[in-house]
Amino acid sequence: MCGIVGYTGKESALSPVLEGLRRLEYRGYDSAGIALVVKKGDPLWLEKRAGKLGNLESILDSVPESHSGIGHTRWATHGGPTDVNAHPHVDNEGKLALIHNGIIENYVELKAMLTARGHIFKSETDTESVVHLLSDARKAHNGDLAAAMREVCGELRGSFTLLAVHSDEPGRIVGARRNSPLVVGVGDGENFLASDVSAFIAHTKRALELGQDEVVDITADSIVITDLAGTVLPHREYEISWDASAAERGGYAHFMLKEIYEQPKSIADTLIGRTAGLDASITAGIDLQGIEKVVIIGCGTAYNAGLVGKYAIEKWANISVDVELASEYRYREPSVDNKTLLIPISQSGETMDTLMAMRYAREKGARVFSVCNTNGSTIPRESDAVLYTHAGPEIAVASTKAFTAQLVAMYLLALHLGKVRGFISADLENEIERELTDLPGKVEQVLETVEPLRALTRQFKDATSVLFLGRHVGFPTALEGALKLKELAYMHAEGFAGGELKHGPIALIDQGTPVVAIMPTENSLLAEKMASNIQEVKARGAIIIAIADAPLASADHLIRIPKTHEFLQPVLAVVPLQVISYEMAIARGNDVDQPRNLAKSVTVE
Ligand code: M6R
Repeated sequence: MCGIVGYTGKESALSPVLEGLRRLEYRGYDSAGIALVVKKGDPLWLEKRAGKLGNLESILDSVPESHSGIGHTRWATHGGPTDVNAHPHVDNEGKLALIHNGIIENYVELKAMLTARGHIFKSETDTESVVHLLSDARKAHNGDLAAAMREVCGELRGSFTLLAVHSDEPGRIVGARRNSPLVVGVGDGENFLASDVSAFIAHTKRALELGQDEVVDITADSIVITDLAGTVLPHREYEISWDASAAERGGYAHFMLKEIYEQPKSIADTLIGRTAGLDASITAGIDLQGIEKVVIIGCGTAYNAGLVGKYAIEKWANISVDVELASEYRYREPSVDNKTLLIPISQSGETMDTLMAMRYAREKGARVFSVCNTNGSTIPRESDAVLYTHAGPEIAVASTKAFTAQLVAMYLLALHLGKVRGFISADLENEIERELTDLPGKVEQVLETVEPLRALTRQFKDATSVLFLGRHVGFPTALEGALKLKELAYMHAEGFAGGELKHGPIALIDQGTPVVAIMPTENSLLAEKMASNIQEVKARGAIIIAIADAPLASADHLIRIPKTHEFLQPVLAVVPLQVISYEMAIARGNDVDQPRNLAKSVTVE
C-alpha cells in the first residue's frame, strides 16, 4: 500500500520520479505527490493532488530543474484522499519533505507533543507527525538528516517506509524501513530508492536489500546503510532477473489481460528444472521427516492457493494440513511448535498479515518454508527455506498469473514432501510430474477458446449475485472465481462447496441466478455428486455456466477445458474464471487494473 520513490543523480529528477510513480501506482492510487530539491536552502518545490496520478501529471508544467526528489502514490489510511492529506508532507519551513508507507501507531501522542512545541499541522495524517519530529531531530543533530532519521525511527511505533529530503542538502535522500518494503537501486552516477524494483528497472538491474530497522543514506554516488545505532552495514546486492518490458502492458489493453495470457510462460518458468522434483538442498536445515503438522497461511488469492495445496499435501504426503487466513491465525494464538512446518504463500512477500502470522509461528519454533514471487522481499528473507514462483512482476491488482504459479509451487512442494517422507508411490509421482509438464500447453489451449466468454459475460452483467460451486479442489477454485468477480466487477459473488448447498446457500437461488459450476474430472465420484447439485439449483431457476473437461447436458453454457490430473484441474479451470471477471469489469465500466478501494500490496494490518 502506497508507492514510494526517490531519485538522486545526473538526470532531471522529475522524469525518473514520475516514471517510478507510474510503475508503482498499482500499490495505491487515491492521491499522488512529488517534492523536488531545487536550490540549496530554498523551500522545496512541491505538488500533490487527490485522485489518480494523471491528476497530478496534468498540472506539471514549468517544473524547475532539480536533481533529487521523492514521489508518493497513496492508499489512504489516516485522513481521506484529499490534496492536503496527499504526501509528501513538509515541515513548517517548507524545506524538509517526507513520504511514508505504513501506519504510525503513536501519532496522536506525537502530534500533541509537537503541537505543544509550536509545530503547525495541516493534514489529518499520521505521517505529518513524523516530518515535524524529524525537523526537530535534524536541528538537534546539526543538520544531519540520517542521524535524525535514526533517532526518529527509535521513537516511532508501527510500520513504515520513510523517505526524506532537505533543501539544505541537495542530492541527499534518507530512507528507513520497519515492516514495510524499501529497496535501493544502484545506478551509475545516480541512485534510487523505491517500494519495489519495478520503479527503477528501466535504469538499473542492480538492487540492494534493506533489513528491518535499517536507515539508508544516498547521494548520486554513495550509498550508506546503517542500523538504528549508526553502525554501518554491508551491502546485500542482487540482480533483478526480469527487465523493464515485463512491467509494461506490451500492447494489451490492461495489465490483467497481459498477465492472464502470460500464464503458459509463468507456469513453465515456475516448473523449469523442477519437474523431476525439487532439489533436496531447498529445504536443507528443515527436518521434514520430523514434521507432524503443516500450516499454510495466506490472504485472499494466496489463501485460495493454500487450500488447493492442502488437498495435495494431505493426499500425496500423508500429513495433516491446516490452512489459515493469516489475519486470523496470529491473533487466536494457535499452538505451534518445532514439529510444525509453516508455509506462508505471498506474491509480494510483503503482506503484513502474512508476515506477522509468520513471525508469530517462528517465535514459537515453527520451521518456515515460504512460497513467494518477489526476490528479496521480507517474507522469504525471514524464512528457513523458500520456493520462488517465477511469475515475473504482477502489476494488475487482481492476481492471476501469481495464483496459477502458486498452485504449481504447491504441487511441487506436496510432491517433495511425499517423496522425502516416502509416502507417494513412484507411479503417482511420475503421473503428476508428466501432467505438470503438460500444464503450460493446456493453459494455452484454454486461452485459445475464451473468446466466446466476452458475449456470455455480457448476458449476466446486471445480475445481482453470482454463485460459484465446486467440490474437492474445485471448491477453492470457486472461492477464487468469486473473489475475482467481487474485486473487479463489484458484484456480489460467493463460492460454495457443492455439498454445502442444501445447508443454506440454496436459498439464494432465484429465477435466472447465474451459477458457475466447476465440474470435477469426468467419471470421478464427485462428478456425479456435482451433477446432482447442478440439477438441484437448476430446478430452482439457476442458469448454469459449467466449466468441465467433458460434455454436460445440464449446463446452459459449457466452457470446455482439457483433461488433467484431478488435483491439477484448478490451474485450467481458473483461467475462464479470470477471463469472465475481466470481461465483467469492462462490461460494467470498471477500472480493471486499479479496482476501487484496493491496492496491490497490503502492507498494513
Ligand atoms: O502479495 P500477497 O500474495 O501476499 O497478497 C495477498 C492478497 O492481498 C492478494 O492475493 C489479493 O487477494 C489479490 N488482489 C486478489 O486478486
